[in-house]
Amino acid sequence: MRIYFSRPDITEKEIQAVTDVLKSPDLSLGPKLPEFEQYFADYIGTKRAVAVNSGTSGLYLCLLAMGIGKGDEVITTPFTFIATSNVVMMAGAKPVFVDIDPVTLNIDASKVESKITKKTKAIMPVEVFGSPAGFDKICQIADKHKLIILEDSCEALGSALNGKKAGTFGQMSVFAFYPNKQITTGEGGTILTDDDKLADMCASLRNQGRGTAGGWLSHERLGYNYRLSDINCALGIVQLSRIEEIKRKRKQVGKWYQQTLAGDDRFIVPTEPPGCDINWFVFVIRLADRFTRQNREKVLQTMRNAGIQVSNYFTPVHLQPFMVEQFGFKQGHFPVTESVADRTIALPFYNNLTKQEIGVVCDELRLAVERL
Ligand SMILES: Cc1ncc(COP(=O)(O)O)c(C=O)c1O
Repeated sequence: MRIYFSRPDITEKEIQAVTDVLKSPDLSLGPKLPEFEQYFADYIGTKRAVAVNSGTSGLYLCLLAMGIGKGDEVITTPFTFIATSNVVMMAGAKPVFVDIDPVTLNIDASKVESKITKKTKAIMPVEVFGSPAGFDKICQIADKHKLIILEDSCEALGSALNGKKAGTFGQMSVFAFYPNKQITTGEGGTILTDDDKLADMCASLRNQGRGTAGGWLSHERLGYNYRLSDINCALGIVQLSRIEEIKRKRKQVGKWYQQTLAGDDRFIVPTEPPGCDINWFVFVIRLADRFTRQNREKVLQTMRNAGIQVSNYFTPVHLQPFMVEQFGFKQGHFPVTESVADRTIALPFYNNLTKQEIGVVCDELRLAVERL
């Protein structure tokens, strides 16, 4: 492989911080957990943060803490990572999909109201690829209909809309730290909220249902082991301390792609919409509408053969085999999502990708399209 799809950015500082924890007696539930949580809450600007072992478990605990379950509906987007709707189903509720805006690729606010029923409890918007575009409109609709917003911010650490940070649009929000994310803890996630009761409930649920006061073998409720170890938290603290540097690097990589592909009408290249400050998660271009899904598959294969790791991003959630089986979804149910998903090409994207490497990626991309 000549150019990887994604690579974490780990410096000696991270290695030292993890080593320090390994030399201490507190590998889990030690001092690094509250330090990471407080640091994260301060960075986002929420009252509380509850660190967990993944974005998925964080989202799931939010739904449980808010009492969303059997008989409830949660409105969300089919153009997302599978975990967004999986957690709704894990909680026993039904995901109700709304198609996306063809420009922002986020849930189309103008189509949300028609999907609200008596069973609707929450809207779960996703800042797709890091973009919070359109989130203000979603908040207005939620306010009007008294719906909870659970913000799936797993892809958007460091992004903002009109100065308001991703992770502050919902009553609860969740970030994720898999190694392809803006910051990594190896695996991990964090729940954010201003609500102490919800935060305390999530902290209990992540720790086998233990209460804040009770002992190790006292369990107040059915709970899980979704804890994040101090080893992961130490890594997260150093990564978060570098967030501005990381954001600058990711924006630079995005700019190089934008400049290199500028003016080529075969590609739709992402840009920051007005008011959006995006800390890119992945950099996903699209082939123009005249190309087909088969064309895209060929381009992906040609680039892979040339040693460039690329991917489609995403496969629509409603067309995943188990979703088709359970809900009877068909091609054509969410046409904007399907049309976008057919043409996406996620290019190699990480902090330390060089301008020269981007030149190689774009040359191979152009060659691959010319060969169609
Ligand atoms: C939009 C979205 N939601 C949820 C998740 C789940 O996060 P994790 O992989 O940490 O469980 C991800 C991770 O990729 C994501 O991109």
